[in-house]
Amino acid sequence: DWTTGNVIEEQVASIRELVGDRRAICGLSGGVDSAVAAALVQKAIGSQLTCVYVDHGLMRKGETEQVEKDFVAATGVQLKVVDAQERFLKALAGVSDPEEKRKIIGREFIRVFEQAQAEIIADEGPAVEFLVQGTLYPDVVESGGGTGTANIKSHHNVGGLPEDLEFKLVEPLRQLFKDEVRMVGQELGLPDEIVQRQPFPGPGLGIRIVGEVTKERLDLLREADAIAREELTAAGLDRDIWQCPVVLLADVRSVGVQGDGRTYGHPIVLRPVSSEDAMTADWSRLPYDVLAKISTRITNEVRDVNRVVLDVTSKPPGTIEWE
Ligand code: XMP
Repeated sequence: DWTTGNVIEEQVASIRELVGDRRAICGLSGGVDSAVAAALVQKAIGSQLTCVYVDHGLMRKGETEQVEKDFVAATGVQLKVVDAQERFLKALAGVSDPEEKRKIIGREFIRVFEQAQAEIIADEGPAVEFLVQGTLYPDVVESGGGTGTANIKSHHNVGGLPEDLEFKLVEPLRQLFKDEVRMVGQELGLPDEIVQRQPFPGPGLGIRIVGEVTKERLDLLREADAIAREELTAAGLDRDIWQCPVVLLADVRSVGVQGDGRTYGHPIVLRPVSSEDAMTADWSRLPYDVLAKISTRITNEVRDVNRVVLDVTSKPPGTIEWE
C-alpha cells in the first residue's frame, strides 16, 4: 500500500539500479519538485549526484539561502552555485516587454546552466549520463505520457533545458501528485520553507516588475513581498491561498503624503488568489485587518512605495501574474 516510506524505498532502489556507478546532474530552481527529486536521488547515489543552482538574482528574500544552506544541510547534497546576478541584470537592462524578459531570462539561464554542466562533466569522475527532473504525474499526462530521453518541456520553467541534451532522464516523481511530493519531501527531512513553498514562476521577480528590471527595483519588491508573506503566514492564511504575487508597478507613479511631505512613489499590487491548478483562479477574500497590516507595513518600511492596491480580478479574464 501507499506510504511515503514505500515510495522512497522503491525509488531509491530503482535509481541505484538505473544509474549504477555513473554520475547525474540536477538543476535546482528553489521549487518543491526539483528539491524533492534531488533529495531522492541524493539518497540513492550520494556524491554521484551534483546539483546546480543558478542564482539569477530574481528570487524572493531568503530563497537562495534556503537552497544554499538549508537544503544542503538537510540532504548533504553536492551543490554548485553559480552567481549570475550581474549577467542577468545586464541582459535585462532597458527591457520592459514581458515576453522579451521571459525570453532573455530563459536564454541566459540555459547558457549559464550549460556552462556549469560542462564544468561538472570536465571534472574527474565517472561519465555524467543522467539528468534529474522533477516531473510530476500531471506533467506526464499533460505532455502525452511519453517517457525517455531529454525532450523536456521547456515552455514553462526557467528550469526548461535545451532540447538537444544527450542525457537520460531520471524522473523519480513521475507517479506522484503535488501533495504526495510534499509528503515525500517532508519524510526526507527537507525544510518546510521548501516543501510548503507556493508556486513561483521560473522568471521570478523579473515578471513581477511592470517595467524595466533593475537592482534597486528588485530589492524594493523583495522587501514588499517579504512583508506580505510574513503577514500572511502570521495570520495562518498560507493554506487558504494558492499564491500571492506581489507586483511592483515601476512605470507608474502616484502622489502621496508621508511624514511631513508630499511623495511621488510607486504602487505595489497584492494579488492573492485561490485556485486548484492555476488554470482558473479567484481572488482571495483576505480579512481586511490582514490587508491593512500589510499595507501599513509596506508603505512604512519600503522606500519609494506610497500606495498598496488589491487586485480583485478572477482568472479568466486576468492571469495570475501581471506579466
Ligand atoms: P498565469 O499568470 O498564466 O500563471 O495565470 C499560472 C501559473 O503559472 C505560473 N507562471 C509561471 N511559471 N514560468 C513558470 O515556471 C513562467 O514563465 C510562468 N508564468 C506564470 C504562475 O505563477 C501561476 O502559478
